Amino acid sequence: MSETHFGFETVDERDKARRVRGVFDSVASRYDVMNDLMSLGLHRAWKAYAVAVAAVREGDKVLDIAGGTGDLARAFARQVGERGLVVLTDINEAMLRRGRDRLLDEGRLVPTALCDAEALPFATASFDLVSVAFGLRNMTHKERALAEMHRVLRPGGRLLVLEFSKVAAPLAKAYDWYSFKVLPQIGRLVTGDADSYRYLAESIRVHPDQQALKAMMKDAGFGHVDVHNLAAGVVALHVGIKV
Ligand SMILES: C[S@@+](CC[C@H](N)C(=O)[O-])C[C@H]1O[C@@H](n2cnc3c(N)ncnc32)[C@H](O)[C@@H]1O
Repeated sequence: MSETHFGFETVDERDKARRVRGVFDSVASRYDVMNDLMSLGLHRAWKAYAVAVAAVREGDKVLDIAGGTGDLARAFARQVGERGLVVLTDINEAMLRRGRDRLLDEGRLVPTALCDAEALPFATASFDLVSVAFGLRNMTHKERALAEMHRVLRPGGRLLVLEFSKVAAPLAKAYDWYSFKVLPQIGRLVTGDADSYRYLAESIRVHPDQQALKAMMKDAGFGHVDVHNLAAGVVALHVGIKV
């Protein structure tokens, strides 16, 4: 039996996806408002930064993995134009449904696919850009997911991983206090579910830091990987190029 992390807990690998699904089923309806509250709106700036770095062009084909309620897919859909394509994917039906509905409310018909990032239902070399924002942390076999992201990119295509990372040492104490004391309380008040937000704080601590994730991306086949620290490392954007 193989084991993995679910936050600070060690669980059977086969159990992690089910537990993660439980977290996102529970938070889906309040996901967007919680993102704004928890990050004081900063998640919008982090995503805007990722979209700016992506520099998507008209006609590009973009795959947004673990896209949830669709913030990145929405921004990319505005940029690729009529000739381009954006596909929004997620493993969780409740999250994907909200993403699709938000896009439809804006008058954008974006194809969606309910799928596991570890087994993508797309042909090899079919996208110019793949993005995954705040999703990799939740995946059971991150190496497998990164290999799949690499596979579906065309040579020269880029992977953008936006994810919580390791905060600079002087901020670590304050960040821990916020994550473990304040965050679960906000979660409890807004969603009635403190546990999911405790999982969020714990899952960030067990996620590979900037250098470890860079090494994993290189192992997955990305020839060049740039790391951009945001908010003193609270979040990092990794950009990998498929050579
Ligand atoms: C924190 S949300 C991020 C949503 C969105 N990308 C954003 O930045 O707002 C994480 C998402 O990852 C999805 N997820 C978790 N494991 C996954 C997997 N193995 N494959 C695809 N999506 C996954 C969850 O269902 C959830 O919607």
